[in-house]
Amino acid sequence: MASGPIGRTRLGNTPNGNAPRPPGACRVLMIGDLIGKPGRSAVESILAELRDERGIDFVTANGENVAGGMGLTPSTADTILAAGVDVITSGNHIWDKREIYQYLETSERILRPLNYGTHEVPGRGWGTYQALDGTDIAVINLQGRTYMQPIENPFTDADRLLDESAEPLPPVRLVDFHCELTSEKNALGVYLDGRVSVVAGTHTHVVTGDERILPNGTAYQTDLGMTGPIWSVIGFDPKTVIPRFLNALPTRFEVGSGTVVFNALQIDIDPATGRSLAIERIQRLIET
Ligand SMILES: [Fe+2]
Ligand SMILES: [Fe+2]
Repeated sequence: MASGPIGRTRLGNTPNGNAPRPPGACRVLMIGDLIGKPGRSAVESILAELRDERGIDFVTANGENVAGGMGLTPSTADTILAAGVDVITSGNHIWDKREIYQYLETSERILRPLNYGTHEVPGRGWGTYQALDGTDIAVINLQGRTYMQPIENPFTDADRLLDESAEPLPPVRLVDFHCELTSEKNALGVYLDGRVSVVAGTHTHVVTGDERILPNGTAYQTDLGMTGPIWSVIGFDPKTVIPRFLNALPTRFEVGSGTVVFNALQIDIDPATGRSLAIERIQRLIET
């Protein structure tokens, strides 16, 4: 029987390694869905130090649940960008707050999934940015279709971007695949292996321990996991979620409280080839 306090959340993974960076590599950090104010505050309290201590050159975070747990607003987006996130990716909840629509048009640092089609969809699904070490990085946001909106095919839309883009993409390419189904995510990782540097899943809010580098150099993790209250149901107060599973009546989810789990994936990438060289899952508990 384990000793220690009963009922306290403990981390299940091995201690974070912080292995030395392969020479010349660009170090990228990808963060999954940030949940409400606890997610924002976690990033504000630890990201600057983490960037510093590990020499991280570029950071993405998924912002679809930042504003009260659903959607993103211009001011909450600004908070995250000011905290040291270079690009905000998103997913199905990006459309929940209308005030972001105009901002998606004007801010190049906020992405919505690429494969929403071309009929009056605000914003952009990919962009090219410069990391701290000078590496050019393409960030691509895609969304799955199984148990989600039946939007355009993320596999063939990725093909079109990678093979036919008028503006050639730099070798370093990060994909945030916002998707419900583990097999759909796994399939996209294998499908894009060797053509992008990273395929990292978001949307389920549940971190997976399957991070690995695929045979042709693409780093892959099925889901980055959320950054939000750990004593919760995927970030939301159990009191507001569990009734839905008891009687199927609609309930209004509220963001949970207490200790926050921070989940992220660190990837070291060769800027010349775009191949991933090292991968490390980072998980921290932040007492509030
Ligand atoms: Fe989410
Ligand atoms: Fe989502």
